[in-house]
Parts: sequence; structure tokens; C-alpha cells
Amino acid sequence: MIKDYQKQVNDYLRDHIAAECGEHTLEEATSYSLLAGGKRLRPALTLAVADHFGQKINQDVLRVACAVELLHTYSLIHDDLPAMDNDDLRRGLPTNHRRFGAGMATLAGDGLLTLAFQWLSDNNLPTASRLALVCELSTAAGPNGMVAGQAMDIMGEGQTLTLGQLKVLHEKKTGALLRYSVLAGGVIAQRSSEVNQLLARFGELYGLAFQIYDDLMDVVGTQEEMGKAVHKDDGENKNTYPGLLGIAEAKHQLALALQGAREVQEQLHQQTGNDFTYLDEFLAYFK
Ligand code: IPE
Ligand code: IPE
Ligand code: MG
Ligand code: MG
Ligand code: MG
Repeated sequence: MIKDYQKQVNDYLRDHIAAECGEHTLEEATSYSLLAGGKRLRPALTLAVADHFGQKINQDVLRVACAVELLHTYSLIHDDLPAMDNDDLRRGLPTNHRRFGAGMATLAGDGLLTLAFQWLSDNNLPTASRLALVCELSTAAGPNGMVAGQAMDIMGEGQTLTLGQLKVLHEKKTGALLRYSVLAGGVIAQRSSEVNQLLARFGELYGLAFQIYDDLMDVVGTQEEMGKAVHKDDGENKNTYPGLLGIAEAKHQLALALQGAREVQEQLHQQTGNDFTYLDEFLAYFK
């Protein structure tokens, strides 16, 4: 169950983050955003995949799974900065820079980004697994992955991208990290490259769906359910699925991405003989 993984992630982060920060205000700012909640979907995906391949979820596996949540939290802190999306509310609380100032928020993000790779490498998993995870996460999050997507996002403000361009933007800014999160479960459980490719494909489609849904919720969701301001994208002249296509067609594109993910889920079953119905709970996130 996702909520059991969430609890393991929350406990691990709560017990380990303070000792990693060497300055008092930096520790406060880092813990503030990291422990503010959040759905923990990325580490939950890693843990669920590894767990269902029979991998024991020990402290090393938890540390590795939590690394992507460190990195994701950095991306949110920086995404909210005045020079980026200029947001005031995140995870139901004032954004990091509203509470600690832009300088400390930038540094809390820098620290979380860097610590992610420390946790990926500083554990007792086999060396080859650690190296593969470092390579995959740095590729997903770096200047050809999430950071490229964020760059396309700010460069696209005030111009109208084509659907093809917007899809690439979403695949990079959000899809890449979710792709990594699913794939990481297969890497930890030492699956074959064929199986890992299917896991990565599932994560890509899940990630595209995730950002289309986030765009839709900016239009039709509420601040209370999202824990962040809504109706922000239009004012910031963002390129979004509902902005480009309207709500009905954006929902159709969401359904297509989810349909693709379900097809890959079935291929995973065919290829391995394992049961992948546990992924249904993650697909049910999109109401
Ligand atoms: C928000 O991610 C940023 C996007 C990629 C849309 P989440 O919706 O996973 O945020 P938290 O971690 O639950 O706060
Ligand atoms: C952000 O996308 C994706 C990241 C890489 C952080 P958004 O800017 O739409 O995320 P929210 O809506 O602020 O959570
Ligand atoms: Mg943004
Ligand atoms: Mg934003
Ligand atoms: Mg958004």
C-alpha cells in the first residue's frame, strides 16, 4: 500500500535529515520543506517496485529510495522562487523563500540536490547498483532532463508552444524524475535490462500523465486539496495542456497517457509472469 511506503519514507527522512545539515538555519530550512508532507509518490514507486520483485526493504533500500524525494523537494523549493514561478504556498505552508528568504531557500535546495547523490552512493547496495542509480538520477534531473524542462517552461512563458513541444517539456520537467523513480525499483532488485526498459517506459507515461493532471488541477482543483495556490499558470503565461487544448481535450490526452501506461503494465506481466496490479493504486491517483 502506498501509505505504508509513505510512512517508511517519512520516518527515514525525519530520523536522518538533521544530522546531514552543518548549519542551524540551513537545517531548519531544509527540514521545513522536506518534512512538510508531500505525497512521497516518487520514493513510494521505487519501494513498491523493488518490494514486489521480492527485494527486502532494509535501511539501505530506504536511503536510496529517499534520495529522489530529497531531489524532488529541491526542485519544488527552486521552482517556487521569485525568479521562477514566484509562489507563496507549498505543501500547505508558506514557501521556503517566504519563510527563510531567497538566499537560504536557494541553499536548502542546493543541499538537498547534492545530498541525494550522497545517499545514492553512501550505502551497502552492490557497487554496480549504486553506480547505475547515480547515473540514472543525474541524467533524469540534469541539464538534459528536469532542468531542461524547467528551462523550456520559463523560456516558453508568453509564447505558444506546439503540442509536440509541450509534451517534450512535460516529459522532461516532470516525466524524467518519475521515470527514474519506477526504474530505480528494478535497478535495486537487479532486474534484466529488458524489464528495466519496460519499467522506465511505464514511468515516462506515468510522469507525462502526472504533469497533465497537475496542469488540470491548477484550473479545476482547490488550494485546500493541492496544498498550493491554484489558477497560477494562466497568470504566469505558462504553457499547459488545458491552456493549449481546453479542459476536455487535456483530459483526453491524460487518458491516452494512462492507457499507454496500462499497456506497459500488461507487457511487464507478460514478460515476467509477475503480478503488477499493485501499480493500479498509483494509477488511481488521477481521479
Ligand atoms: C509537484 O509534485 C510538482 C510537479 C511535478 C507537478 P507533487 O504533486 O508530487 O508534489 P508533492 O511532493 O506531493 O508535494
Ligand atoms: C514543476 O511544475 C515541476 C518541477 C520540476 C518542480 P509546476 O511548476 O507546474 O509545479 P507546481 O504546480 O508549482 O507544483
Ligand atoms: Mg514551474
Ligand atoms: Mg510551479
Ligand atoms: Mg503546476
